[in-house]
Amino acid sequence: MSNLDQIVSAAVADFGQAAEPAHLEEAKARYLGKTGALTELLKGLGKLPPDEKKVAGAAINAAKDKIEAALTSRRDALREAALQAQLAAEALDVTLPGRSRDVGSLHPVTRTLERIQHLFHSMGFEVADGPEIETDWHNFTALNQPENHPARSMHDTFYLQDADGKVMSDILLRTHTSPIQSRYMQAHVARHKHLADMPEIRIIAPGRVYRVDSDATHSPMFHQVEGLWVGETVSFSDLKGVVIDFLRRFFESDDLKVRFRPSFFPFTEPSAEIDVAFMSGPNEGRWLEIAGCGMVHPNVLRHGGIDADRYQGFAFGFGPDRLTMLRYGINDLRLFFDGDLRFLSQFQ
Ligand code: DAH
Repeated sequence: MSNLDQIVSAAVADFGQAAEPAHLEEAKARYLGKTGALTELLKGLGKLPPDEKKVAGAAINAAKDKIEAALTSRRDALREAALQAQLAAEALDVTLPGRSRDVGSLHPVTRTLERIQHLFHSMGFEVADGPEIETDWHNFTALNQPENHPARSMHDTFYLQDADGKVMSDILLRTHTSPIQSRYMQAHVARHKHLADMPEIRIIAPGRVYRVDSDATHSPMFHQVEGLWVGETVSFSDLKGVVIDFLRRFFESDDLKVRFRPSFFPFTEPSAEIDVAFMSGPNEGRWLEIAGCGMVHPNVLRHGGIDADRYQGFAFGFGPDRLTMLRYGINDLRLFFDGDLRFLSQFQ
């Protein structure tokens, strides 16, 4: 075997031994580097006579080609091996189930409140708001229930305590949204006192209310939506039209039966309770009470600063929790407030 053949096979063997790219490059230097075996031979060419030089040069170059080919193929092999090792190390199990992120949703009562606001908005009603901690005057007196009025005992009221734990008789958790009536009337009158003719009041007021009460159909905290329309000619037939139109749209049922049953509220005269009957579904044929209403009592208008001889109007108070129960066929009010996701996630 010639010297050149020995160098080539030594290089091929060395390259084969190199298990890492760095070792391979070191091996390359031993043959093709500045002082490498083949380079030394090339340097020696100059000393040869011209005809030998040509033959020897061609042979060295052929050997160099072989070594370079071996180097390239070893480089490729190492790169491929490294890639395979990386793929194996970073293996992805595409059969693993993904980690899903829970999607939140609106509470069913919130959905109802938004629906109510949307429907009344389409009839020109604005949304008004008021405090949940209310004065006795707004919650009762302004609504034509003076002190010691028997109607006050209709509400089991939460009163607040002062720092010494003494019950304050004049501050309470509102028992209904009706106090927003007098609050809104007073603000409305003040806002428009420079005008000869007061613009109409047309509002709904959704919100939380509180009573000492708890069973399947009562919760110490629940919701109401107050409604108030005051103007010069607003009549009981307007009340019926608005309420019936609202209920039919709310329940998406044109054959929903609505009944106005005479009743009593201190803040309206005449007063009525509103019942609905469904023509199909689980509540078919049953009359269910869902709201109170009536023509605003003149004393309530006066407490609101409105001329009761000139203006009149109607008011109503809906129970949106009740509406939600009917709409979704839910039979226990407490489900709304337990925060149980097994229940709530059904409304996504
Ligand atoms: N505030 C009454 C209640 O909580 C509901 C109500 C009845 C509101 C008649 C009204 C109304 O505005 O006119 O029981």
